[in-house]
Amino acid sequence: MKILVTGGTGYIASHTVLSLQEAGHDVVVIDNLVNSSEESLRRVAELSGKTAEFHHVDLVDEAAVEDVFAGAGIDAVIHFAGLKAVGESVQEPLKYYYNNLVGTLNLIRAMDRHDVRSIVFSSSATVYGEHNAIPYVETMEIGANNPYGRTKEQIEDILSDLGTAHSRWHIALLRYFNPVGAHPSGRIGEDPQGIPNNLVPFIAQVAVGRREKLMVFCGDYDTPDGTCLRDYIHVVDLAEGHVATLNYRRLPLEPRLRQGLFRPGGPALVRKGGG
Ligand SMILES: NC(=O)c1ccc[n+]([C@@H]2O[C@H](COP(=O)([O-])OP(=O)(O)OC[C@H]3O[C@@H](n4cnc5c(N)ncnc54)[C@H](O)[C@@H]3O)[C@@H](O)[C@H]2O)c1
Repeated sequence: MKILVTGGTGYIASHTVLSLQEAGHDVVVIDNLVNSSEESLRRVAELSGKTAEFHHVDLVDEAAVEDVFAGAGIDAVIHFAGLKAVGESVQEPLKYYYNNLVGTLNLIRAMDRHDVRSIVFSSSATVYGEHNAIPYVETMEIGANNPYGRTKEQIEDILSDLGTAHSRWHIALLRYFNPVGAHPSGRIGEDPQGIPNNLVPFIAQVAVGRREKLMVFCGDYDTPDGTCLRDYIHVVDLAEGHVATLNYRRLPLEPRLRQGLFRPGGPALVRKGGG
């Protein structure tokens, strides 16, 4: 199949592009490079021996998105592109709502125009908010408590409504937790622009001398040693999960929304990782 990967030069997506190519798929990438660089795709090509078709396109540019779809023969989309820093989203909510929502609407409207109706969406465990007891399960009520999380929740709603209205859509929502790690080759990994918003790339940048130190805040969490607890998933497992999800969408499907399972025309909620 020919898969369009949005945000394809980014951290999770670059590992997924490699997994897709290893599984025999052709890959088209859209990214505006706001938090990544094309270098990741060059390295993916070294590892896979296949070159992904790259479009330096911002998803909020509707005409440019349309141009990518025109005549491209895309079969399905994995939608990673988005801004993802929780703190920044509190400071600049409009930037987040505009980028994540308008970008997604442009994407799915172009898909619809070109009869491409399979999408796997990068949602986030942040949609569960902080009111739920762990471990989280997909049947829990969601309720994000920051603008970034609310963009994910709202995109889930848009896709769910679309799937409910039109059974020809195949939609999977993956609410993943904290991906970490890198491809075993060490050639690709997490290399964000500017100050990392995630812990592990921050630690890595201190380790290689790019940053002086890591500040550790708080010691008053309700945990055995007072520090914060996080669960992690290896990024290569997550990448392979995306490839598996593309296959999974063809399975017989369950009839309920928001129950962690696929159904024709409705979303699947496939949890990756924990915590
Ligand atoms: N890393 C995490 O902890 C985590 C957890 C859950 C969900 N997610 C979601 O997974 C997806 C990928 O996350 P990541 O950690 O690989 O982040 P990332 O920043 O490395 O990847 C996102 C990519 O999207 C691109 N992008 C952003 N806005 C765009 C736009 N308007 N048009 C085109 N490209 C655009 C960025 O340049 C970047 O390459 C994001 O949607 C994120 O919200 C991440």
